[in-house]
Amino acid sequence: MNHPEFIKVFAPATVANVCCGFDVLGFALEAPGDEVWARKSETPGITITAVAGAQGLTANPQENVIGVVAQKMLEALDLSIGLELQLHKGMPVGSGLGSSAASSAATAFAVNEVLGKPFSTQDLVIFAMEGERKASGSAHADNVAPSLLGGFVLVRSYEPLDVVPLGVPVDLYCTVLYPQIELKTSLARSILRQEIPLKKGIKQWGNLAGLMAGLLLKDYALIGRSLHDEIFEPERSVLIPLFKEVKAAALAAGALGCGISGSGPSIFALSATKEQAEAARKAMETVYLGSGIETKSYVSKVPPQGVRLVKSPALQPVTHELL
Ligand code: HSE
Repeated sequence: MNHPEFIKVFAPATVANVCCGFDVLGFALEAPGDEVWARKSETPGITITAVAGAQGLTANPQENVIGVVAQKMLEALDLSIGLELQLHKGMPVGSGLGSSAASSAATAFAVNEVLGKPFSTQDLVIFAMEGERKASGSAHADNVAPSLLGGFVLVRSYEPLDVVPLGVPVDLYCTVLYPQIELKTSLARSILRQEIPLKKGIKQWGNLAGLMAGLLLKDYALIGRSLHDEIFEPERSVLIPLFKEVKAAALAAGALGCGISGSGPSIFALSATKEQAEAARKAMETVYLGSGIETKSYVSKVPPQGVRLVKSPALQPVTHELL
């Protein structure tokens, strides 16, 4: 049987929440990220023939987010064709860097290509959100939207969905420190109080509006003054060893602001220059030295582009079923 070539797609990691924008703001990183490969198949339904680069992820298409996203797209188009998918993870699971979102975004884009692009990239957000629902029980868009659209993306509303790509109005560099402990988004959501005191709400929406204005006015000082979260960070940071110390180190090294990346455990800092982002990386890494917790770190410009086709893949197709 002659198989068509795989469409190969890379979708980047993302930082969601960005301190004051819980569930409504996120931005893309250049790397790391995931690849999803897709092609039509003569086998009816969705088949996942490889899950590479991560332990413990299932190849069952009803259980893996890539199968769930693809299925939703076929259902929306009322199609009953066969699809073969492969997931090549290039980033850690449960890291707070939008791992399930990168897989979901890459799937939505790859399947859209295979089907002849019936949807715009912005239309794909709603399908990729189904991967988030599967992974964490909550269909938030603040990781999948920037992974698909690049730059900063605001989710102004969920009902109806109103996704506002802001691009990258001002040069920013992100440092991410990933302490290698796994923290599930479902757990980090389950510990949150459901009510917000009015006083804290006022601070939070002041900061979110300030961050938006700072980005658009290219005002780094305003961005820095706005990167605060007094609602969720105090509740969640107890799950991240040495969070306070890392944050203090990043700010002392000159970062504009620092907070939990998504639901953690990764910690991000934003800086105005690459040099400051590198200095923040060094300072943040130093805090964990001797703690017994291994870390990984990344410095990335906030890029204007998110998901993209992979032209010359470094990876070879996996020809056997892994799981
Ligand atoms: N906004 C989501 C949360 C992002 O914080 O739970 C999860 O990565």
